Amino acid sequence: MATPPFKLISLLLLVLSFSPLPSIIAQSSCSSYTFSSNKVFSSCTDLPYLGASLHYNHDASTNKVSVAFKAPQSSAGWVAWGLNPNGTKMVGSQAVVAFFHSNGSMVAYPTQLDSYAPSMAPAQLSFPVTDVSAEYVNKEMIIFATLGLVGGGSKFNQVWQEGSTVLNDVPKAHSTAGVNIKSLGTIDFQ
Ligand SMILES: *[C@@H]1O[C@H](CO)[C@@H](O)[C@H](O)[C@H]1NC(C)=O
Ligand SMILES: *[C@@H]1O[C@H](CO)[C@@H](O)[C@H](O)[C@H]1NC(C)=O
Repeated sequence: MATPPFKLISLLLLVLSFSPLPSIIAQSSCSSYTFSSNKVFSSCTDLPYLGASLHYNHDASTNKVSVAFKAPQSSAGWVAWGLNPNGTKMVGSQAVVAFFHSNGSMVAYPTQLDSYAPSMAPAQLSFPVTDVSAEYVNKEMIIFATLGLVGGGSKFNQVWQEGSTVLNDVPKAHSTAGVNIKSLGTIDFQ
């Protein structure tokens, strides 16, 4: 006996309700985020690890990109994001980091990840960086920055990270297990 069409449809709906499709749709949540500071970004990407997202406006005529990096964090921890012009991993990355200073203010600044135990001290990057600031909203740390993309291209290796501890106003090492060593990839600001 042939299966009545409505049974096939019910079966299809049942299969769909258990498929990964809804979670794929839910992942594109960065585009629905509204920044409290009235900042608007025309593009965004939900990064695959650490619950992070990158929001950006690219000005092709000046090859500058304004970014907002956002990731969940407790008030005791830190977050960082950077581009690596010369490699795919952490070392060599030109980063911005944010955390709560012991004086109670959020601080954010550029820093060079020049080894696997970088000082995390403020430093000049290999490209111009301006307008670095940070916010803490709904248990998420957000870093804002404007980068001058020297070299002409729009595609970069990126890294992002979070750590639970800041000691004497210096971010301490992140976990070296699980998703904390997977948080790297490429970004095309085009
Ligand atoms: C990347 O490599 C180029 C060429 O070797 C060098 O001039 C530049 O300083 C390097 N940049 C960084 C951030 O290490
Ligand atoms: C806290 O320290 C940071 C870094 O030195 C400084 O920029 C900021 O103005 C300070 N905030 C207060 C409230 O003192």
